[in-house]
Amino acid sequence: MDLKHLCMKLNDEHVIPVLGLGTSESEEVPKSKAEEATKLAIDAGFRHIDSAYVYKNEEEVGRAIRSKIADGVVKREDIFYTSKLWITFLRPDLVRPALEKSLKKLQLHYVDLYLIHLPIALKPGEEILPKDEHGKLMFDTVDLCATWEALEKCKDAGLAKSIGVSNFNHRQIEMILNKPGLKYKPVCNQVECHPYLNQSKLLDFCKSKDIVLVAYSALGSNQDKDWVDQSIPVLLDDPVLSALAKKHKRTPALIALRYQLQRGVVVLVKSYNEKRIKENMQVFEFQLTSEDMKVLDGLNQNARYNPVIFAADHPDYPYSEEY
Ligand SMILES: NC(=O)c1ccc[n+]([C@@H]2O[C@H](COP(=O)([O-])OP(=O)(O)OC[C@H]3O[C@@H](n4cnc5c(N)ncnc54)[C@H](OP(=O)(O)O)[C@@H]3O)[C@@H](O)[C@H]2O)c1
Repeated sequence: MDLKHLCMKLNDEHVIPVLGLGTSESEEVPKSKAEEATKLAIDAGFRHIDSAYVYKNEEEVGRAIRSKIADGVVKREDIFYTSKLWITFLRPDLVRPALEKSLKKLQLHYVDLYLIHLPIALKPGEEILPKDEHGKLMFDTVDLCATWEALEKCKDAGLAKSIGVSNFNHRQIEMILNKPGLKYKPVCNQVECHPYLNQSKLLDFCKSKDIVLVAYSALGSNQDKDWVDQSIPVLLDDPVLSALAKKHKRTPALIALRYQLQRGVVVLVKSYNEKRIKENMQVFEFQLTSEDMKVLDGLNQNARYNPVIFAADHPDYPYSEEY
């Protein structure tokens, strides 16, 4: 399949493939699975791979990408690889070393996209979630505009082709856009997005600023007990999704993925299973009608699987804003 047309233009003139493989998994799953899945996904036609420092799998994902390059399946420029700056590294002087650490693990010269993972800073150090002696999370105070300037420098240095944000609300994006002396706009905002949380206001806002919205947990997340709100109904069991799947002779997962593409959203989907990785590529083989799209819009209930509960009291907690 020629995937060139299955890309969206970013505001810095680079392009992003509209379907990406997610690689975050719970701690119990061996990291070697990320390597296997990345190889399977590239063989199946995926050209966009999403990872992050905090997923602790960049060594494996990098190895998979490099092995597919060595085998002649793809060239480096065919792959769009995203990494994310973890929130213990938001102080400006820590940004480039953090990206260099990811690149060293990946054994790549650059990432295609580097994102600020979350607009909340934690105390710098080796711990992913640093806690004090009472078990309380230790936050840090960082000016996100200064963090952004450090990302701009990484782009100028060629370490990241494009730079963007993740889990930002519209006010936090606006703060970056209004920064005096802004050199590069964020190309995207990667956020949770699926029929139960369709982010229609944030999507309209991002489109109006030429910022791509990238959807994560588009199938309703991996239900990881450490991070995911288990009280929300399982998206893929939704009867409306099932009915549309029956109508189109596809699966509820494909309906949820197709929904995003047709509203101009780049969509990530995590699977470590060969059959489902191949199935997810079928998203390009059918179309939903405008009536189907309206029905799917009607499922919105602003239900968030990934509430990042540890930061709920923080003044920069992005989800206390309406969008
Ligand atoms: N920026 C952020 O803060 C953030 C937060 C969360 C996630 N993300 C990114 O977004 C990616 C995707 O989100 P997510 O991992 O939360 O989950 P997701 O893509 O919504 O769903 C993954 C779950 O759906 C299953 N699945 C995949 N394809 C399927 C199919 N065709 N039919 C039925 N089930 C299917 C997977 O299981 P199998 O593996 O068994 O197929 C997995 O359990 C992540 O991996 C990560 O890269 C970013």
